[in-house]
Amino acid sequence: MQTISRLDDLREAVSALKSGGKTLALVPTMGALHPGHMALVREARARADRVAVSIFVNPRQFSPAEDLATYPRPIEADRALLEAEGADLLWLPTAQEMYPAGYATTVSVAGLDAVLCGAARPGHFDGVATVVAKLFNQVRPDLALFGEKDWQQLTILRRMARDLDLTHPHADMILGVPTIREPDGLAMSSRNQYLSPEERTQAAALNRAMRAAAARIAACEPVAAVLADLKTEVLTAGFHAVDYGDLRDAETLEDMAVVDGRSARLLVAAHIGKARLIDNVAVDLWTIS
Ligand code: PAF
Repeated sequence: MQTISRLDDLREAVSALKSGGKTLALVPTMGALHPGHMALVREARARADRVAVSIFVNPRQFSPAEDLATYPRPIEADRALLEAEGADLLWLPTAQEMYPAGYATTVSVAGLDAVLCGAARPGHFDGVATVVAKLFNQVRPDLALFGEKDWQQLTILRRMARDLDLTHPHADMILGVPTIREPDGLAMSSRNQYLSPEERTQAAALNRAMRAAAARIAACEPVAAVLADLKTEVLTAGFHAVDYGDLRDAETLEDMAVVDGRSARLLVAAHIGKARLIDNVAVDLWTIS
């Protein structure tokens, strides 16, 4: 696996990887890789001839109050994991390479970024959309893979890719990969490292409560009452705040008061110890995942 940190070198390496009509998949990450990321790399290998992974802890998606300075950066361990998984290229730009002096452009996906995590983290999704647009232009992938755990991010990036003609509406270049979970249901996340052993045990209540709520909604119980019970259950389990616990249209992220045939998603963000955890599950009358 080649590790590249300069844009000039990247362009050459990408041309070589794509030569002879080979397809290239990109897995964008911020590092601190866990089995969820590895599932993305494996899926990428199954779907494309070549696989590039980017690791860049993107300052533009952190607010001043967030954990940019302390975000885990175990680069040697990450590199070993990617090597073992058979990635072809690691794109490891510096902040200076990504945002050189004078950098002035922001990509903003209006509307979809105003709700859920966007309401609690203003500017976060501008940072995500901007860096992902740049990564797409830098790596020029045929396909890019993202975890469904960050459902709002996935929705926003799909919209961005369509709006900027980066993707064909009938052959989406963005692929969402189902969330990888610990045996007790906790969604894998680099931020789970912030949990103490006790908080880690308590955190499993989040997905348990969400699955129960999704089943009740699918059984046509009133959505508002179910969501109120869900929040109470999560707080009782040891979380100290719930930013949101909403039922939303899976594509438009519109609030849904009832399940009505549209594809629906139950999404929660809640705080425990130093971690803000997010999770989401599908809700419809036929399937719960
Ligand atoms: O999901 C992430 O790890 C990041 O938001 C991403 C997509 C790599 C952009 O920095």
